[in-house]
Amino acid sequence: TRHDLVIRDGLIVTAADSYRADIGISAGRIAAIGTGLSGAESIDAAGLWVLPGGVDAHVHLSQPTSDGTVMADDFESGTRAAAAGGTTTVLPFALQARGQSLREAVAAYHREAEGKCHVDVSFHMIVTDPTPQVLGQELPALVREGYRSFKVFMTYDDLMLNDRELLEVFDVARRENALVMVHAEGHDAIRFMTEKLEAAGKTAPYFHARAHSAIAEREATHRALAHAELVDVPIVIVHVSGRAPLDEIRAARRRGHRVHAETCPQYLVLTENDLKGLNMDFEGAKYVCSPPPRDTESQQAVWEGLADGSFDIFSSDHAPFRFQGPAHTGKDNPRARTSFKWVPNGLPGVETRLVILFSEGVSKGRITPERFVALTATNPARLYGLYPRKGSIVVGGDADLVLWDPGVRRTIRQQDLHHGSDYTPYEGMDVTGWPVRTLLRGRTVMQDGQVMNRPGDGIYLDRTG
Ligand code: URP
Ligand code: ZN
Ligand code: ZN
Ligand code: ZN
Repeated sequence: TRHDLVIRDGLIVTAADSYRADIGISAGRIAAIGTGLSGAESIDAAGLWVLPGGVDAHVHLSQPTSDGTVMADDFESGTRAAAAGGTTTVLPFALQARGQSLREAVAAYHREAEGKCHVDVSFHMIVTDPTPQVLGQELPALVREGYRSFKVFMTYDDLMLNDRELLEVFDVARRENALVMVHAEGHDAIRFMTEKLEAAGKTAPYFHARAHSAIAEREATHRALAHAELVDVPIVIVHVSGRAPLDEIRAARRRGHRVHAETCPQYLVLTENDLKGLNMDFEGAKYVCSPPPRDTESQQAVWEGLADGSFDIFSSDHAPFRFQGPAHTGKDNPRARTSFKWVPNGLPGVETRLVILFSEGVSKGRITPERFVALTATNPARLYGLYPRKGSIVVGGDADLVLWDPGVRRTIRQQDLHHGSDYTPYEGMDVTGWPVRTLLRGRTVMQDGQVMNRPGDGIYLDRTG
């Protein structure tokens, strides 16, 4: 058979193994893997690695914030950045505002994404208002319609659930077979510390890291896991920043409880010292996210967790803001200058997720190539119901592929990125390995840094299967 396209002589890397072969693509799917395949067109991948397109399971796009700050990426720029970085599937959030029906929230994000996406998209929900109507009707119905995962927050005034509400949503998840992603930071401990710090005049961005302590993260992780065990439902602890919360997860697993763990690039290569900026100045706001990056010992603990299988998935937690204006778009705003507590939380990272883990992990020998693929594509696809269509290189799967140059040396520069932020927290970082071409369902969407498909070519992925 003559395929539409053959990718020749690349080193195919999956979560299980690596081997040299051709990939035959027809009608957007992987039709054959073998040698000497014939195709109407071909791409020479000799010297390159062929990886499954990245699956980024934690991305915030066009999400409103409590103080009206507008995110720097909508579905167009955010998915363009994803494609540029080698990611072909993203899972952003449909945020329920308090008082809003969950169904209306989901519909609003569909409208927002329509016609804009460069890569494929599916949605998690964020449940902030678990009324009897939401718990009894909307949430079960939406889960059955393919919105099989949702996030809940244990902090943030406008988002958080109390313990009783957590238990109620966990119970719905157990009945409906949905997966709950938990933002585990203890609200009262954060508020208490914030007020103490402010009273002492400690208002610079750095003190965000003191207020959002590792202890508050550990405590909330423990509490979320205790409640999940009580209800007997598997959950995902997202954006784990260091050893203490990871040890809580390991302890729950030793008791026989099923729990999944996610970490992110910022916990590998940043520390709280980055929040100090130059001299405790406002530059530190560029690194304000929650949980904040910790210290080098925490980085080490996260690396151990990535290597030993404690972490299932590696996501960006892309939550992009500009540093400087225009009005209502910047981390640097007059109120944020008065206290760290007003700095919009989050970092841009969808475009740099793969290069950071590849360079610091694979190139430096901390994780194997196969583990890299498992963490960045296969496991998130499995966890969120997209496998085997997404996340691997298998006959029958979508031809979402990245041609990766494993040896090229590059420096991460804002000027080369495609996201909507006006900075990258990783500016000046030297990396080895870079994506040179991204294919989405057999079509090239990025080559040599140019994103060439049209907004709207990315499709919505129904997870009813
Ligand atoms: O600071 C962060 N991570 N903001 C994004 C929202 C979240 O909590 O993941
Ligand atoms: Zn979160
Ligand atoms: Zn798991
Ligand atoms: Zn997030």
